[in-house]
Amino acid sequence: MAESSSLSAPAPDAGLQIYTSSSPQLQLHDMIFCLAKPLALKAAVLLNIPDIIATHGGGEGSSLSVEDIAFHIAASAPTMNMKLPNLEYLFRLLRYLASYHVFTETSDAGRAVEFKRYRYGLTAVSKLLMVENEYSCVPLVLAATSKIPWEGLQRLHETVMEGCPAMSKAFGMNAWDYFRNDPQENEMFNRAMASDTRAVMASVVRVYDHGFKNINTLVDVAGGTGSDLSMIVKEHPHIHGINLDLPHVIDIAPALPGVEHVSGNMFQHIPPADAVFMKSVLHDWKDEQCVEILKKCHEAIPGNGKVIAVDAIIEEEAGCLQRMGLRSDIEMMVFTDGGKERTEDEFKEIFRLAGFQRYAITKLPFSLPSIIEIFKD
Ligand SMILES: C[S@@+](CC[C@H](N)C(=O)[O-])C[C@H]1O[C@@H](n2cnc3c(N)ncnc32)[C@H](O)[C@@H]1O
Repeated sequence: MAESSSLSAPAPDAGLQIYTSSSPQLQLHDMIFCLAKPLALKAAVLLNIPDIIATHGGGEGSSLSVEDIAFHIAASAPTMNMKLPNLEYLFRLLRYLASYHVFTETSDAGRAVEFKRYRYGLTAVSKLLMVENEYSCVPLVLAATSKIPWEGLQRLHETVMEGCPAMSKAFGMNAWDYFRNDPQENEMFNRAMASDTRAVMASVVRVYDHGFKNINTLVDVAGGTGSDLSMIVKEHPHIHGINLDLPHVIDIAPALPGVEHVSGNMFQHIPPADAVFMKSVLHDWKDEQCVEILKKCHEAIPGNGKVIAVDAIIEEEAGCLQRMGLRSDIEMMVFTDGGKERTEDEFKEIFRLAGFQRYAITKLPFSLPSIIEIFKD
């Protein structure tokens, strides 16, 4: 048998040319095998790796060896019974995530893969995977890899064939009923929504500062556990905030200064207020239901009142944000009964049917959703 040192790299083979960056095979492979990405992120989060590097790495720009990370995993995760992870496997997880710039990677091992000589540090991406970060995406990673999206999306073809949500087929009920019946998934979903909200709302509060000035009472319709409203009220303490959502959501909502939680059904009654706020809500519903919700909003606000909707608007031009909108549209197909992401023209028609006179759109920087003001007069 030949010594390994005598082996040489194979000459470039014409057959391998299919794997150039523009090749359809590579493009397809990227889509087919992307499943490992969110699950590798989940593994890193469950093993607490970003927080371990932040805590024990020695400050900004520093890093930890694979062995150090392994030691702290064993020490920090009681569920692992102080067991050291397999060092080589841990290295392979870190190396994969570093290839997506989730971690920095340095080594003095030259070309050899001597995993003990590799070190990993935080990047702007992994800082978002720290539990302590204000904008932590950990709840999103956990919710996006939970059984609901996986089992629901497996049935996308059935959704397309039958024009009804796979969620009901997979679980025998719609998403809101499912969460009402499963406290753990309810908590996970609401934590993910709240986490998603923080970054978008930071932008809303900054860009739309002037828009909240003349409002004394603001009702957040389907506001989840109240985090959107809490961020608005913090910046505008003169506002009395009312957070309306279903009972099983309000039951787990924390007490928040300036926010009154109200259990209710937005199709039946919306508490009166100077203005309505509504984020990531219209995309959950069919056009007719959006018109119904907006008619209730119309009743709840005075003649000079407005609805401030924060929602994605599907545009013609392609691009990263556009693709996020289209992905969200697929999720709406699977998880809601007729919800969808809409174009401006589709929104316009819904606003008209609900009795509103005009609207204005403000785009948010680096965000999928826009602010849509919908005026009664
Ligand atoms: C996609 S979440 C958006 C939550 C929040 N606005 C945010 O952006 O984080 C949709 C919300 O609608 C609520 N919801 C569903 N049906 C409702 C109804 N009939 N009345 C009030 N809230 C409802 C859900 O409980 C959930 O909190």
